[in-house]
Amino acid sequence: MKKALSLLTVSAMAVSMLAGCGSSNTAATTAAATTAAATEAAAPAETTAAATEAAAAATEAATEAAAEAGSADLADKKVGVCIYQFSDNFMTLFRNELQSYLESLGFKPENISIVDGANDQATQTNQIQNFITSGVDVLIINPVNSSSAATITDMVTEANIPLVYINREPDAQEEERWKTENMNVTYVGCDARQSGTMQGEIVLDLENKGDINGDGKVSYIMIEGDPENVDAQYRTEFSVKALTDAGVEVECLDDQVGNWDQAQAQSLVANSLAQHGKDIEVVFCNNDAMALGALQAIEAAGETVGTDVYLLGVDALQEACDNVKSGKQTGTVFNDHISQSHSAADAAVRYLTGEGNEHYIGCDYVKVTTANVDDILASLG
Ligand code: GAL
Repeated sequence: MKKALSLLTVSAMAVSMLAGCGSSNTAATTAAATTAAATEAAAPAETTAAATEAAAAATEAATEAAAEAGSADLADKKVGVCIYQFSDNFMTLFRNELQSYLESLGFKPENISIVDGANDQATQTNQIQNFITSGVDVLIINPVNSSSAATITDMVTEANIPLVYINREPDAQEEERWKTENMNVTYVGCDARQSGTMQGEIVLDLENKGDINGDGKVSYIMIEGDPENVDAQYRTEFSVKALTDAGVEVECLDDQVGNWDQAQAQSLVANSLAQHGKDIEVVFCNNDAMALGALQAIEAAGETVGTDVYLLGVDALQEACDNVKSGKQTGTVFNDHISQSHSAADAAVRYLTGEGNEHYIGCDYVKVTTANVDDILASLG
């Protein structure tokens, strides 16, 4: 299990401190009541050492009882996790970290079940139904189609199972419903607009602001992830918006869907380079897997990142960070799978203890360039 960057840990802690109020589990509540009673009883004799000792002992008992209640509960709890597709590089990092963090919290490995939706909503819907029938206590779901969230939410909440969505954010109307209908449903993830903006800012920070040939505009191609997904929509929009907001003129030479996939991106960028050659100054990829594919195509075309073309991704996969370090990728944006998986597991626990959650638990992206890539690589372990 990895440790989150300290900055992100602090922001995750702030979120978890804000999140959730309401009742906690019985043992903890009882012990807390004992503390209050001891403090009250001690109040008239507040100057005596005995009173202070009684209150301190009760506090300690409360803390111990709460801890015991928590871990005893979790060891018996079953958690079901649905991932949209196991072959996705980023979601593989996410699910491995989620598994080890859940175990570190006290869930038994045999009570953690993680399944592959194989990028098919019907398959995933069946898996969710099976989890409900088997009586899981909490579900963590990375939906295949974000647009299926309303149906998924209804299935799960009708079975009285709390639900934590991860990575693929349902739309605003669906999130609003969790609030108005007071559902035990939350979303843990980052705001994809931020990652797009950061990609654009990395280009703006270059000396020529991306205008390699000096013709007064930045000519780019865009390689998109799954277009059903807000991450793809927002990254596509906000990377370019950062440039235009800064007064930079842009020209889109090509915009293609690579479905988050390295091989698809490689062939798309190869085609684009064959058509537009050195007119392409910036290759924006919605994720690093596709940036790795783009790099293969760029190198095969005999071009060099940094002099002929700039290349941007998102996620901060190890290999992409190595490329940033050696100059083969201009930059990336850290999509913090460590902080997100921990926050998702913590949210699941807060449902199990009855503490509850806010309906949105956020996380920040981090820009990655040669300036800080070593820190990011160190935090990835
Ligand atoms: C994004 C990530 C992509 C892909 C996608 C799946 O957040 O950047 O690499 O994993 O999620 O929905």
